[in-house]
Amino acid sequence: MMSGKTSTTPARPGTPPGEEVLLDVRGLCVDVDGARGPVRLVNDVSFTVRRGEAVALVGESGSGKTMTACAVMNLFPTPQLRLAGGEVWLEGRNLATLAPADMRKVRGARVGMVFQDPSSFLDPLMPVGRQIGQALRAHGRREGVEARVLELIELMELPQPAQTAAKYPHELSGGQRQRILIAAALAMEPALLIADEPTTALDVTVQADILRLLVRLRERLALGVLLITHDLGVVAQTCQRVNVMYAGELVESAEVGPLFAAPRHPYTQGLLRSVLGRNTRREALFSIPGGVPIAGQWPTGCRFHPRCPQAQAGRCDHEAPALQGEAGSASRCHFAAEPRILHTWDASQDPAHGVTA
Ligand SMILES: Nc1ncnc2c1ncn2[C@@H]1O[C@H](COP(=O)(O)OP(=O)(O)OP(=O)(O)O)[C@@H](O)[C@H]1O
Ligand code: SF4
Ligand SMILES: [Mg+2]
Repeated sequence: MMSGKTSTTPARPGTPPGEEVLLDVRGLCVDVDGARGPVRLVNDVSFTVRRGEAVALVGESGSGKTMTACAVMNLFPTPQLRLAGGEVWLEGRNLATLAPADMRKVRGARVGMVFQDPSSFLDPLMPVGRQIGQALRAHGRREGVEARVLELIELMELPQPAQTAAKYPHELSGGQRQRILIAAALAMEPALLIADEPTTALDVTVQADILRLLVRLRERLALGVLLITHDLGVVAQTCQRVNVMYAGELVESAEVGPLFAAPRHPYTQGLLRSVLGRNTRREALFSIPGGVPIAGQWPTGCRFHPRCPQAQAGRCDHEAPALQGEAGSASRCHFAAEPRILHTWDASQDPAHGVTA
């Protein structure tokens, strides 16, 4: 059993008293080896997750959300990718400098992960209960494994735990399979759950069920959750704070209420406008024109300037804006101090995402 369970991450200057920071990510950078040298995919990303809090990482496809999560876990899908800088403080230890063997103990035990497609992470030939049991045995648990598996299946609000445990993945629905993976991720009672697009592959009604379950689990287990999604609608009632990423950088971070009421960055405003159009039908479907630039081929100046309706020629296309504001309430825009707020969203008018526990 790891002693890190009770230790805390050193408080960052400016953290309100009484707020226990669980995860403190500082200046995170990720590089990939390209034909002409390393290319920076994620640049100087900083954010925190407190105990019992859900924090979102939001952005369009290719904005660097998954790479950021990989960097937190220091686990990348290919050897060409690597942590190129920054600190990842969890429960008093900097994971970025942990030896590989120690990091393996942290993964699963202190940090659980859930991904988009449950099917690709389950063995089709093994009953799901045994697969949850494997998560326990991998961390040295030998006693009471079966009882703990049943307890976890019940915690996931699945019916008839013993019968469910004996089923094979193909005998369960997509939502039930995702619950099994969440059970496996939480088996060792981690302090932090990283959920990377956990509902994207599911039907809309099942998505809402899984999100409700995550809200309940966070509250019940005082779990820190890092929820990765491209959909601000998913964030509205499941998270307390939001970090918006664009082209490998953080462009806005804020608490959920202020972000939805008065998004400061033009990119966040565009994302909100597209959710607003989709969910309330108050305007025709909107999407931000253009796409996220290819990694390493970033536009000069502000990376968002070719798509920004508020860009000012001569400045935005030449000068890269810094993240302005305090930690947890900042915007990467030259005009962050006097933002033009064009699009806001009243979540109470959104019929599609009434996700509460
Ligand atoms: N294995 C890889 N090798 C090289 N580049 C990669 C690799 N995986 C991702 N990238 C690049 O890193 C950048 C960020 O990708 P990432 O997967 O983090 O985006 P994302 O925000 O998670 O997008 P999505 O919503 O599609 O999952 C992209 O430019 C992507 O092309
Ligand atoms: S710095 Fe300029 S281009 Fe970038 S978001 Fe702000 S207004 Fe738009
Ligand atoms: Mg991703």
